[in-house]
Amino acid sequence: MDKRYLFSPGPTMLPPRVLLKMAEPIMHHREPEFERIFEEVRKGLKALFQTKNEVLIFTSSGTGAMEASVSNLLSRGDKALVVRGGKFGERWGEICKAYGIEFIPIDVEWGRAAEPGRIQEILASDRSIRVVYIQATETSTGVVHPMKEIAEIVKKYDDAVLVVDAITGIGVLDMPMDRWGLDVVISGSQKALMLPPGLSFAAVSDKAWKWVERSNLPKYYFDFKKELKSVQKNQSAYTPAISLFVALREALRMMEEEGLEAIFRRHEKLARATRAAVRALGLELYAPGSPSPGLTAVKVPAGIDGVKLQKLFFERFGITVAEGQNRAKGKIIRIAHLGYYERLDMIMVISALEMLLKEMGHPFELGRGVKAAEEILMEE
Ligand SMILES: Cc1ncc(COP(=O)(O)O)c(C=O)c1O
Repeated sequence: MDKRYLFSPGPTMLPPRVLLKMAEPIMHHREPEFERIFEEVRKGLKALFQTKNEVLIFTSSGTGAMEASVSNLLSRGDKALVVRGGKFGERWGEICKAYGIEFIPIDVEWGRAAEPGRIQEILASDRSIRVVYIQATETSTGVVHPMKEIAEIVKKYDDAVLVVDAITGIGVLDMPMDRWGLDVVISGSQKALMLPPGLSFAAVSDKAWKWVERSNLPKYYFDFKKELKSVQKNQSAYTPAISLFVALREALRMMEEEGLEAIFRRHEKLARATRAAVRALGLELYAPGSPSPGLTAVKVPAGIDGVKLQKLFFERFGITVAEGQNRAKGKIIRIAHLGYYERLDMIMVISALEMLLKEMGHPFELGRGVKAAEEILMEE
């Protein structure tokens, strides 16, 4: 039977309301109707990012907004600080390298959160650092970094800004951009925004715009200044992913109807239930100290082939969970619960996990994980 379920931390499952919008006849992006859609999207994104700043929208995957946050903020000879606690932290370093930017890495053990004190030490000892790059949630390890504390530190330095890759943070956890003083916050469409891949976002603070003003790295398509001028006219500089914009408006409406507080609570509850379930099956979390509400990284128990387990999810049940990446390959599986996920979705994926572990010889009593999850999911 051709039934498929995505439990990967992007792309995620999509609501029928959003899917149907993409089936509508395409319009032209310079029509007044599209400008009205753009205006509503602009307002909705500001509410979602919890900012008064404009949120720039690019037709690209999330990495496009990451690259733009290097090429638009830095200048030749500038130095950056890069928190590398997983594959996506490493990507910040790779992008800096591609642009010839020298960076100081803070290597965080995979599965652990960054220590704000370390960032403080380095910023205090090297006043030539212009940008600190980090993830809100490091999707390769399932960790949440302490963004509020880190923002408190970076805020004290007039000559440094904080850029947060919140690709799996926005719409998942409460990270108010303006209140916390985050300078650039980026995201992507295929995560909690309940859309297909294809749009990336960058919200830019007044402080960060000063960096943009003097940046002299090469850029063309991903040009914050050019895009800002267009956004202020409810347009994009180049042909946008029109159908995705129409779908984005619908997704933002859904999020507004649910309310941000309720969205964060839902994610936290699904995450707690998933963690309780895997523990009840005798499995360990990969990031027990600072687990993300967006996804749960689970250590594959000794004697079980992690790559095979991930494949069997699909072969037996049509379920895609994510495997471990790079050094975590075969050691973990990652179960996502960000975006369009509800209580019974988690029961399904946990039940599948139980059946597969049983088949693969892991000793436990069937139903224990589901029971542990249900107990949390039934809480008010
Ligand atoms: C935290 C984080 N950063 C960056 C990316 C890269 O985004 P994309 O694959 O959309 O370019 C992802 C995607 O999984 C992510 O989760």
